[in-house]
Amino acid sequence: MIEESTEVVFNKRVAGNTFFMGYRSDPMANEAGPGQFVMMQVRSGIDPLLRRPFSILGVNGDVLLILYRVVGHGTAILSEKKPGDFVQVLGPLGKGFALPCEAVYPILVAGGMGIAPLIFLSLNLARKDQQFLAGYGISPEVVPLDQLGIRGLSPAIATEDGSQGHHGRVTELLESVLLSAKEKPPAIFTCGPLPMLKAVSRIALGQNIPCQVSLESNMACGVGACQGCAVKKAPDSIKPYAHVCRDGPVFDAKTLDWEVI
Ligand SMILES: Cc1cc2nc3c(=O)[nH]c(=O)nc-3n(C[C@H](O)[C@H](O)[C@H](O)COP(=O)(O)OP(=O)(O)OC[C@H]3O[C@@H](n4cnc5c(N)ncnc54)[C@H](O)[C@@H]3O)c2cc1C
Ligand code: FES
Repeated sequence: MIEESTEVVFNKRVAGNTFFMGYRSDPMANEAGPGQFVMMQVRSGIDPLLRRPFSILGVNGDVLLILYRVVGHGTAILSEKKPGDFVQVLGPLGKGFALPCEAVYPILVAGGMGIAPLIFLSLNLARKDQQFLAGYGISPEVVPLDQLGIRGLSPAIATEDGSQGHHGRVTELLESVLLSAKEKPPAIFTCGPLPMLKAVSRIALGQNIPCQVSLESNMACGVGACQGCAVKKAPDSIKPYAHVCRDGPVFDAKTLDWEVI
């Protein structure tokens, strides 16, 4: 884990309220893995007091990439950063995705900004036999991967309003992919809003399919010191709670108590 003041290389709007930022940190770029995140202090001083967590979308040389949606005070400040500005960043943090072996068929299921860590995972897998599904509410939320400079990834898209791709939820795409996945046993990797993660986990656990879930939660410290991100573990677990920041954000779906989360 590294903490440093990093230089913003670019920060641009790529869709609706969604921004794509790159900042320079050679040591973080060397350490980062898919599913890990960084805590970013969006400006110096005490407003806002807390750092904000963002998944790492990938690395390009010594530049770390993040994708974020402006939802409040912190992300609004972040969206005003210009190339040459500096931001204080702590990372890479947390436990990322465990990469699957060649014998399984990876299915990546993203919802909204959950696409960021799955892009990193998909690029890392670098396999032709992977399926990438991305769900959004409406088409202005759809992240155009060509604007991120990413080639060779073309997730199947679902929008709830039907304006792009499959009309409906990304879990419907998942169910149809699972029906046709026969050659290799599937393994699911997912990140997105909690209701989507619950639905994906229900499908996976119901069919005994391995499923790694990247959770989001409110985070104050990001390093296991404040207890702010505790989640309930499955009833048969030795420890009743896990910290999303330190034990996750990626968990085996069967180790969590989905009735309580
Ligand atoms: C491990 C992790 C990885 C994340 N990765 C990304 C990412 O790659 N891209 C991205 O855009 N966001 C990501 N988030 C969410 C991001 O941290 C929040 O959107 C951000 O902190 C909001 O800060 P803010 O000051 O703009 O909003 P605030 O002013 O703090 O809140 C504004 C509104 O946003 C809601 N909000 C705050 N945090 C979250 C959250 N975690 N999830 C959903 N709603 C929230 C609040 O409830 C409130 O309604 C991640 C969160 C975690 C825990
Ligand atoms: S954010 Fe402080 S313990 Fe996880």
